[in-house]
Amino acid sequence: MPHPFSLSTAIAYVNGPPHIGHALEFVEADCLARYHRMIGDEVYFLTGTDEHGSKIVQTAEKLGIGVRELVDMNAEKFRTMMAQYRISYDQFIRTSDQKIHWPAVEKIWKKMVEKGDIYKDEYKGLYCVGCEEYKVEKDLVDGKCPSHDKAPEEVEQVNYFFRLSKYSDQIAEILKSQQVKILPNFRANEIIALCERGLEDVSFSRPNEQLSWGVPVPGDESQTMYVWCDALTNYISALDYANEGELFRKFWPVDCHVIGKDILRFHAGVWIGMLLSAEIPLPKAELVHGWIHFEGGRMSKSMGNVVDPVDLAQHYGVDASRYYLLAEIPVGQDGNFSYELFENKINADLANNLGNFVNRVLSMTERYLNDVVPPHKQDIPSEVDDLWQDYHEAFVEYDHQKAAQAMIGLVNLGNKLIDDAKPWAMAKNENQSEDLRQVLRRLLKMVLHLAFMLSPFCPEKAEQIAASFDLDDQLDATGLEKLQQNTLLDQVKQVKKTNVVLFARIEPEKSKVHQTS
Ligand code: MSP
Repeated sequence: MPHPFSLSTAIAYVNGPPHIGHALEFVEADCLARYHRMIGDEVYFLTGTDEHGSKIVQTAEKLGIGVRELVDMNAEKFRTMMAQYRISYDQFIRTSDQKIHWPAVEKIWKKMVEKGDIYKDEYKGLYCVGCEEYKVEKDLVDGKCPSHDKAPEEVEQVNYFFRLSKYSDQIAEILKSQQVKILPNFRANEIIALCERGLEDVSFSRPNEQLSWGVPVPGDESQTMYVWCDALTNYISALDYANEGELFRKFWPVDCHVIGKDILRFHAGVWIGMLLSAEIPLPKAELVHGWIHFEGGRMSKSMGNVVDPVDLAQHYGVDASRYYLLAEIPVGQDGNFSYELFENKINADLANNLGNFVNRVLSMTERYLNDVVPPHKQDIPSEVDDLWQDYHEAFVEYDHQKAAQAMIGLVNLGNKLIDDAKPWAMAKNENQSEDLRQVLRRLLKMVLHLAFMLSPFCPEKAEQIAASFDLDDQLDATGLEKLQQNTLLDQVKQVKKTNVVLFARIEPEKSKVHQTS
């Protein structure tokens, strides 16, 4: 029986098109999903869009278009970007979907009411629309929200509140004992300290006349639910929590929520509190990524340095863009984007190293063996097993950057084998023809191993490599099993080298470096 593995990304606000930070999160989750499928797990990968709240309404007003028009337009841009990046999600949930999403939101709300955790009170305070969050004075710098450089709105209203304070100690314990594992660990410490200082109750609704674009509070249509209460619930509404159907039974609790550092407070605090209140099992892990900066500084529209993931992939290729985000940005830490770093990484790792290795092996097989795969069984170096072990361990730790390093380790090993064996010298000596065949067989096998290791990172290029063996539809769990049993190459009599360059070097005429420095 395959082991179920479920994961989610945050659902992005649709007040604008996707940016590179979103792309980072989607490819991180996609890489995990593809890896787990490859090892034979039954994966459920959820993503979607967060379509309610004041931010969306205000953006629509600013643009002079209807809210529905805005959310439909931008949700479509997210879908298009995800298709371009080959994000292999199983469901795309939209919080404005009244059929799938709303019934679950209503259900969890009622559960929290039954528990006595929702109460009505008067609220006077500050609200930052950018963060969709209530603020206190100490959160502000010179009276402004530091993330949005804007003074929050003063609100005075009657609200429903969620009694999060009641769960502070319990949440701190859950995080400390790693019942919910926050990765990397230093992020857990930050949030545990916050819980230990005591979490405050959260305003969980707004009067309808102030905000009507959202889910109405069950039993009180004069109030609209707070956008985060509605948004967090997407993780279970999509799995049919409303009916506690098959998806919910199979894939909840989720194995991993992939989120950014700015929204950990909501996921480790509010969300766990809501689940405890409604007596729903807790997520197993939350993988928290950092922020992407542009050349060391903040990426922002006003500075004109926002990197558009769609343009990036159009210019350099989807797999090169995916690879940069997965292999260069350290897992969990803030990372940097610059065209120079990008181009250097792609040229060094993919064009000069990986692409060159594959090309050398296939070219030599063509030149010396007429593309015929030598039939003998030849064991591959034991270091390949060690690299696979590193690779699997890295994914267990949710460290895809380390997994990418193991994959590049395999490439280095292959290139070294070529340099040491010097097949071109063997080809000149008839007495060495059998040695030559064995070396090339060994190298071909390593190229196949590489195709598998590469596939969660660069699915299209991995398929292109496997297509040289006519195995492009076998980069799956069955194929991997055969690979590990050392029988996959036995199926292949002949390879075919295509003329399509795997990863072209980014030459000066294609470079964007000069355009930004
Ligand atoms: N709608 C909420 C999430 C609700 S989840 C129940 C939200 N949306 S967002 O569009 O602002 O962000 C979506 C994800 O993208 C978040 O995980 C966020 O951390 C991430 N990123 C947004 N900007 C980012 C960068 N500049 N860099 C890296 N990730 C960033 O928050």
